[in-house]
Amino acid sequence: MGKPKVIVTRRWPEAVEKKVSELFDATLNTGDTPLTVAELQDALKTADAVLCTVTDKMTAEVLGVDGKQAKMLGNFGVGFNNIDIEVAKAEGLVVSNTPEILTDCTADIAMTLLLSVARRAGEGERHLRGGQWTGWRPTHMMGTKVTGKKLGIIGMGRIAQAVAKKAHFGFDMKIAYFDPYLPDPDAVNKTMDAESRGSIEDVLADSNFVSLHCPATAETRHLMNAERFKAMQASAFLINTARGDVVDEAALVAALKAGDIAGAGLDVYECEPDVTRELTEMENVVLLPHLGSATLETREGMGFRVVTNVEAFFAGKEPPDRVA
Ligand code: DGY
Repeated sequence: MGKPKVIVTRRWPEAVEKKVSELFDATLNTGDTPLTVAELQDALKTADAVLCTVTDKMTAEVLGVDGKQAKMLGNFGVGFNNIDIEVAKAEGLVVSNTPEILTDCTADIAMTLLLSVARRAGEGERHLRGGQWTGWRPTHMMGTKVTGKKLGIIGMGRIAQAVAKKAHFGFDMKIAYFDPYLPDPDAVNKTMDAESRGSIEDVLADSNFVSLHCPATAETRHLMNAERFKAMQASAFLINTARGDVVDEAALVAALKAGDIAGAGLDVYECEPDVTRELTEMENVVLLPHLGSATLETREGMGFRVVTNVEAFFAGKEPPDRVA
């Protein structure tokens, strides 16, 4: 049997593309243009595995195409809400993702957003580059102190725990969280002196910063809505490095305008790459273009993790990060 045929839907870091080309009969996307629905369907019809990423919408329409040759989707990303998992299962496709490897870098971006929005870093940089800075003065651009404040976390998985550790041990922050699915809350509570709360509202009520870390599912869609913004303190900040769907973006804009919350730091959006225009016009909002895992080390690690899963699958073994 020849090498398995794989199609990579976007550019990957060079070292990983080299590895993929050595191991498989690989078609790379050297132009890095996103594949259309028809091209994704074609990929499923002509390759043994499609190595997609979090922006490829692997919908029922795509996955249900007749005459599929593909047996596996190796998703480049820990989140796999881009894939209709039930349809993938029904179509007999094995799916893997890339957990763990991006935990620290995504947590670093959450802290970047938290510090930037609290200390007005984006606004300050715009001010300076715009030639408006007239010099130091006691009342200039006063922000909010981070050290010692309370960080509320919704969803206490790997990335959230990494954020909590950085915040607690680095910035002496107190941690409160809500996660009804966490297997061993006592261990987490002990490690960073965190408090597990009984509801999202309990977390929102007294947190100075609220960081979202739940996956995008039907259950978490618009988890942060108008009522929940009102449940936050008016001086509090929202941080989202999870998925845009978790926040009702229109309600967030309304809450910011009404002063229900003090600001937001966002890395993900409801309709990426489109961002609600009003957010881009607000000084108390820090906006990043989905950079959570965007370091060379992590992106290479993610690619190699896909390779490990695909290799295992074609060797007749269980892919270590199988999600379907
Ligand atoms: C993921 O892996 O789900 C991230 O959002 C990509 O950075």
